[in-house]
Amino acid sequence: MTQWPARLVLVGAGKMGGAMAHGWLEAGLAASSLTILEPDPSPEFASLAASRGLALNARVGGPPDMLVLAVKPQSLDGVAPQIAALAAERTLVLSILAGKTIANLKARLPQARALVRAMPNTPASIGRGVTAAFAHAAVSGEQRGWCEALLGAMGAFYWLADEDAIDAVTAISGGGPAYVFALTEALAVAAERLGLPAELAMNLARGTVEGSGELMRRERTTSPAALRRNVTSPGGTTAAALAVLQGAGGLEDLMVRAAAAACARAAQMAG
Ligand SMILES: NC(=O)c1ccc[n+]([C@@H]2O[C@H](COP(=O)([O-])OP(=O)(O)OC[C@H]3O[C@@H](n4cnc5c(N)ncnc54)[C@H](OP(=O)(O)O)[C@@H]3O)[C@@H](O)[C@H]2O)c1
Repeated sequence: MTQWPARLVLVGAGKMGGAMAHGWLEAGLAASSLTILEPDPSPEFASLAASRGLALNARVGGPPDMLVLAVKPQSLDGVAPQIAALAAERTLVLSILAGKTIANLKARLPQARALVRAMPNTPASIGRGVTAAFAHAAVSGEQRGWCEALLGAMGAFYWLADEDAIDAVTAISGGGPAYVFALTEALAVAAERLGLPAELAMNLARGTVEGSGELMRRERTTSPAALRRNVTSPGGTTAAALAVLQGAGGLEDLMVRAAAAACARAAQMAG
């Protein structure tokens, strides 16, 4: 049975926080258990809050069971003094702030003991995200269950054994949607270079990425390599393209270099 915290405060209902709140309500979290602190709610979020009877910017009567931080990382220093009293010893603090380590969070929320750091990605907004999280040793089994319910409501969810792995996750699934969009753009450019009109080029590229993603989702037990082989006749047209893509300095080398650059940047930005 899904475990929900009895009292949950969400700080920041922007793109990610707003999508999370929406996903939690859809997954069955009781609106009465959720308080949201957001100084500048979007019209869409304000109307969701009104229609579901959410406590938006209501006074919070003491520390909740769980405090979820979804403000911009650069806002943390300003926000922390306003919320430090809500992060009591028994409160689970879950942060999705890129680059903010457990040590950074503890330094700003001095009473907090149980902290979890998570990295979601933008498809979370349609319930198709991938999130990985690291739990500090003080997080209890029950608190882990809350994280699994809340983060699992946005798509796939995985625990990490060490905090440093968050930088690698940031480089793969955190930024991954952008890489897939860049691949779509590149495919459209290639289509134009082959003489196709721009609109058709983009439609072909988009449709191919959308359909291939959906096919991979449905054929869960078939590996991506097997799906690739299924559309590659020996000596055929796809094989000719793959000889270029998979050659030296090709797609795999590029992706390894790109992810390494993102991972190094994530480590640099931690603070
Ligand atoms: N978007 C992604 O792909 C992604 C992926 C993984 C992790 N993250 C992390 O998710 C976090 C949120 O990103 P986002 O894209 O959702 O940013 P966002 O849309 O800017 O949302 C942050 C929200 O927090 C609000 N806020 C600022 N000060 C506050 C305060 N004192 N109390 C309560 N709320 C306050 C902001 O309001 P104002 O607009 O008035 O400042 C804004 O609505 C970031 O830390 C980011 O690192 C994002």
